[in-house]
Amino acid sequence: MTDWQPQAAKLADSLAAESAIVDNRWRAAFEATPRHVFVPRYWALNEYNSPVRVVDGAVSTHRHEWLQAVYENRFLITQWVADGDRRIVTSSASLPSLVARMLHILDVADGQRVLEIGTGTGYNAALLCHRVGAANVTSIDIDAGLVAEATGRLDAIGYTPTLHTGDGALGVKDGAPYDRILSTCATRGVPPAWIDQLADGGRIVTPLTIGGALAVLAKTGPGEVSGNLDVEPALFMAMHPAGQPLPDGYLAEIPPPVSNEVAHLGTTNLDPEALADFDFRLWLLLHKPLHFVEHVDDQQTRVGWTIHDGVHQATAVRRGDGVLHVRQSSRRLWDTVEAAWLGWVDHDRPRRGRIGVTATVSGGQYAWLDSPDSGVRWPLPVPTG
Ligand SMILES: C[S@@+](CC[C@H](N)C(=O)[O-])C[C@H]1O[C@@H](n2cnc3c(N)ncnc32)[C@H](O)[C@@H]1O
Repeated sequence: MTDWQPQAAKLADSLAAESAIVDNRWRAAFEATPRHVFVPRYWALNEYNSPVRVVDGAVSTHRHEWLQAVYENRFLITQWVADGDRRIVTSSASLPSLVARMLHILDVADGQRVLEIGTGTGYNAALLCHRVGAANVTSIDIDAGLVAEATGRLDAIGYTPTLHTGDGALGVKDGAPYDRILSTCATRGVPPAWIDQLADGGRIVTPLTIGGALAVLAKTGPGEVSGNLDVEPALFMAMHPAGQPLPDGYLAEIPPPVSNEVAHLGTTNLDPEALADFDFRLWLLLHKPLHFVEHVDDQQTRVGWTIHDGVHQATAVRRGDGVLHVRQSSRRLWDTVEAAWLGWVDHDRPRRGRIGVTATVSGGQYAWLDSPDSGVRWPLPVPTG
């Protein structure tokens, strides 16, 4: 194919126009990297964000649609597994503007050694190879088939980074220490192995499974990293153990449990639309892990939400009369939402950039507001791999 370069340049232009790319060296990487090589086919989504139809560049009738999608600012689903009626996405080519944003905040310098967690298609690894040289890039994915495909694609465009198959939560000890560790799957906390394998002066950029948080962590001492969340949310599929993809609800909603419990009916002063604010949602999730399911009316306008924790649920909706109705089971999850809202307002409605994370290899990990010692903090789970 010879016609991809203008398309790659156009994609780079559009990412620069929205300030996702702010450095010419990354712009050059996006211009020089053939995304179509890394995404030879993808799955189109239905209205419920479920993958339903393959769009394959090798099929002549798909070719136009495929090539256009590959060079637009779109994330593209490349693999999924069935779980009953649900389709769980197990790999994707991430949204180019998010890829660019994460590479920007990785703040990588010439010659630095980078470990990527989640090789996927290999596209991000190719961008890193362009920027720091393939000899400085190591990438790991839990899926051997993906690693084999990515190896072939990278090789085809002249890059031979070090690729591994395995659990990225354990890092890649062989090539450590790394100046930069970039994860492209979301973790529940910071895996201790990454802190161990990070060089002094190093930086970790990783999405967390909580509220689209994207942590930007510096090494702040032996066995310790700390830093604020990026101001932009970043939704990624969750890192999972081999053979066990997690239905994490990052694309499709996780349906509420079927419950026979008698519900408590009432009204609320808190507009359920508050849950549409991603920064409030993050604040709430730091207090209590929950899933969110939208309610829409006949005109497809959102009128409320069901929240649930897999066992209990609460639904808050605005009815035609403008009254905000709540129906909740005995755990009274809506009361939790209201309490979290009061706390959020009390702290001047903190945007996510005011939240940070501190993680140590030996001890616990926690998220904090404003500074690690502010006294407002929440424990995070330590992923063990
Ligand atoms: C969003 S995709 C990565 C996109 C990729 N960076 C690219 O440029 O195409 C997330 C990847 O994380 C991988 N993954 C999930 N759990 C993992 C684990 N425990 N260790 C390593 N990789 C994992 C998945 O197999 C998937 O390919």
